[in-house]
Amino acid sequence: MVKKLEGAGLRGQVAGETSLSSVGQIEGLAYRGHKIETLAEKATFEEVAYLLLYNKLPNTSELKEYKELLKSQRDLPEPLKEVLQKIPASAHPMDVMRTGTSMLGNLEPEGDFSNQLDSINRMIATMPSIVTYWYKYSHDGEDISLVNDEDSMAGHFLHILHGKTPSDLHRKVMDVSLVLYAEHEFNASTFTGRVCASTMSDIHSCVVAAIGSLRGPLHGGANEKAMELIEHWTSREEAKEKILSMLANKEKIMGFGHAVYSIRDPRNAVIKEYAKELSKLHDNDDLYQVAEEVEKVMADEKKMFANADFFHAPAYFYMGIPTKLFTPIFVMSRVSGWTAHCMEQRANNRIIRPSADYIGVESSEWVDLADRD
Ligand code: COA
Repeated sequence: MVKKLEGAGLRGQVAGETSLSSVGQIEGLAYRGHKIETLAEKATFEEVAYLLLYNKLPNTSELKEYKELLKSQRDLPEPLKEVLQKIPASAHPMDVMRTGTSMLGNLEPEGDFSNQLDSINRMIATMPSIVTYWYKYSHDGEDISLVNDEDSMAGHFLHILHGKTPSDLHRKVMDVSLVLYAEHEFNASTFTGRVCASTMSDIHSCVVAAIGSLRGPLHGGANEKAMELIEHWTSREEAKEKILSMLANKEKIMGFGHAVYSIRDPRNAVIKEYAKELSKLHDNDDLYQVAEEVEKVMADEKKMFANADFFHAPAYFYMGIPTKLFTPIFVMSRVSGWTAHCMEQRANNRIIRPSADYIGVESSEWVDLADRD
C-alpha cells in the first residue's frame, strides 16, 4: 500500500534538546537566555562565541585572553594558502570555505575530542582569513597579509578585505551582523552538523557538512540572492512593479518568510536600522529605499516579513562587501553556533537516525539484465 508522506520538512517536530538558543518563543530569539536585542546592542561577537562555547559570559580578563587567542590563530598554514591559490576566481566562495575548512582538517586534525575547543577556536579564527585570502588572490592577484592589529573578527575581516582600518561604524555593524548570525537552534545547517557529530566524526567534518547545507538559497544563500534581486532596481516604483509581477508569477522572494517565525524575525529590525544608518552616509540611498519598498509590498500583498537576510544585503553593500562574500560572512559567525551544538551533541550522544515512511512499490519482480527493455 502506498502511504502519503506527511510532515514534510520535519516542520514543527522536536528533534532533540538544546540549551544553546530558543527560537520563536513569542517570536523571539535568545542565546543561552540572553535576548538577541540585548546581545546585538551590548555584546561583541567574541563575547557571544565565548558564551556559546564556554556556557558563560566572559569576564574582562577572560574576554581579553580569548580575543588574544583568536588573534594569534588567524594566519593560515602555507599548504592551505597554496590550495586556496589554486581555486579559480569563478568558484563559489562557499565552496572555497568548504575546501579551506577541509584542508585545515587535513593539516591540523582534531584527534582526541578532549582538545575539541582548540580545533574549534582555530576554525573560528581562520574563517575570515580563508575566504578573504582566496578572494584577494584570485580576483586581484594579491597575496595579502592576514596579520593586523584588529582585535575583533569584524575589524579583522574588513581590514584584510579592504586593506585598511575600517571606520568605527563599519566595525560595529559587522560585529552586530556576526552576533545576529551566530546561533539559531535546529536550523538546517546546524542540524546537518549535529547529525555528523552524532556519528562521532571529527569537528572539521561536522563544519564542512554544515557549510554544504548553509550554501543553499533557501538557507544562508538568501542574503546573496536578495542582493541579486534588488541591486538593479533604482526606485521604489520599479521595485513595486517588479515584485508584484514576481508574486503574480508565484516566484519566491528571497529574504522573506521563515520556517519557524510566523509574525517577524527579531533579527530583521536590528540589521534594518543599521542598513538605514549606513545608507544615509552613502552617496545615494536607492538600495535602501528599494529594500524598504519590497518589504512594504510583501507585507501588504502576502503578509510576509523580511527575515534576517534581507536587510543584510543593503547593509553589506554600503560597507563595500562584494555580494559573493555575503554567505561566507554567515559561515564566519555561525561556525560558533555549529560547533557549540556539536559539543552539546557529543556530551550526550546517541546517533541521529530517524525513520522514513516507505512510499515505494510494495514488491518488485527481478528481471535479468539481458531481458530488460
Ligand atoms: N516569497 C514568496 N512566497 C513565499 C516565500 C517567499 N519568500 N516563502 C514562502 N512563500 C509562500 C510559499 O510559496 C507557500 O505558498 P503556497 O502555500 O501557496 O504554496 C507558503 O508561502 C508557505 O511557504 P513554505 O515554502 O511552505 O514555507 P517553508 O516553511 O517551507 O519555507 C523558507 C521557509 C524560509 C524556506 C521560505 O519562506 C523561503 O524559501 N524563503 C525564501 C528564502 C529565504 O529567505 N531563506 C532564508 C530563511 S532565514
